[in-house]
Amino acid sequence: MEDKLEKIVSWAKRRGFIIPGSEIYGGIGGVYDFGPYGVALKNNIKKLWWQTFVSGRDDVVGMESAILMNRKVWQASGHEKGFVDELVECKKCHRRFKADDLSKEKCSSGGEHELTEPKAFNTMFKTDETYLRPETAQGMFTDFRQIAETSRQKIPFGIAQMGKSFRNEINTKDFLFRVREFEIAEIEYFVKPGDDEKSFDEWLKAWEDFVLNLGIKKENLEQYEHPKEGLAHYSKRTVDIQYKFPFGTKELAGVANRTDFDLKSHEEASGKDLKYFDEETKEKYWPYVIEPTMGIERLMLAIICDAFEELEARTETTEAKTENEIVLHFSPQLAPIKVAVLPLVKKLSEETKKIYQDLKTCWGDIEFDESGSIGRRYRRQDEIGTPYCVTFDFDSLEDKKVTVRDRDTMKQERIEISELKNFLFRKLNIS
Ligand code: GAP
Repeated sequence: MEDKLEKIVSWAKRRGFIIPGSEIYGGIGGVYDFGPYGVALKNNIKKLWWQTFVSGRDDVVGMESAILMNRKVWQASGHEKGFVDELVECKKCHRRFKADDLSKEKCSSGGEHELTEPKAFNTMFKTDETYLRPETAQGMFTDFRQIAETSRQKIPFGIAQMGKSFRNEINTKDFLFRVREFEIAEIEYFVKPGDDEKSFDEWLKAWEDFVLNLGIKKENLEQYEHPKEGLAHYSKRTVDIQYKFPFGTKELAGVANRTDFDLKSHEEASGKDLKYFDEETKEKYWPYVIEPTMGIERLMLAIICDAFEELEARTETTEAKTENEIVLHFSPQLAPIKVAVLPLVKKLSEETKKIYQDLKTCWGDIEFDESGSIGRRYRRQDEIGTPYCVTFDFDSLEDKKVTVRDRDTMKQERIEISELKNFLFRKLNIS
């Protein structure tokens, strides 16, 4: 199975999805860049998240807080003292590991590692004045009162935010799974104390439904209930949504009941009133907070692992008849390219381009490709997960029809050019 991850890493680079950061200088551990298809896939995931949880709901509002926050925020939130991992170092090879996630490899100086006693290592990135935020949550707590008032939301309601977060991870590993710079998408949902347990269950369902709607297979998901004694300092209950990655079943997303810990701590430390005032009942209280959270890169990795398939050659090409084929079964809403428009031969490019231009005004994410054999071009589109290819051939000049090829079934249908947009509209089922 680990072999699958290696194949994915090489595919991602070869096809311009994910590239190691600063690669021409030898890279920088745990930092990745996203190429043209990678950023398109990532943006599609983020767009769907925002549509589902912010624009699609009446009880959640969006915000964007700054990456740099006053250091006092991280003192009050408990991060400065408690955002730590246990670090051990091998006395022989001097590599450092998370004590709860030791390397399976042998020591490079020979034999087993000889480890130091564990010591606490804070994983926030320090700047001269403060830290780079390790989560987006705190901005939603510090601005809670402002946003509650200006948005005129009444409890229960949520604040949502998506953005860059940074963690100085001791070991970065497993490709996008554990990196140092990544995006978190999370919601702080404020409820009346006592309503928190019901709301927790609702959010856990909504969170899992979202992951399933992206096309991830249910059999590859599992829930993990954190034991009471292992809960974070602020949490009353935490459940992870885990994914069966090629390197093991690991956390993809989570839901935590943060109680009133954060608002209370910030009120104490800042001296500013962060309670909620209920106009109807005239009660004033610190709301409880349910926090569903997910990392966009982890989600992207799970989507890729789920969609990735290596098959024996199924599309004949003159260049490589026997080479294995890679197909990415992305759902149309996530696919970086929705439709590829291909002339059978270059001579037909001019006519084909008219169809391409027409479709491009509709969906934008349309590609035109005239180079190489048609089989090669189909394979290339399968590899980047394009759901449909439209081919214009010599018959098209006469019968005004094109061939539409389905990536997953490889079924080919002749469709009237005048009907093509409607046909694809129904098939893609996206706006
Ligand atoms: N505000 C809560 C919070 O930050 P977390 O579980 O520490 O919770 C949220 O992080 C999500 O961010 C995780 O569920 C995971 O998907 C993602 N994540 C955490 N650390 C990561 C890392 N080093 N690389 C990539 N994604 C990470």
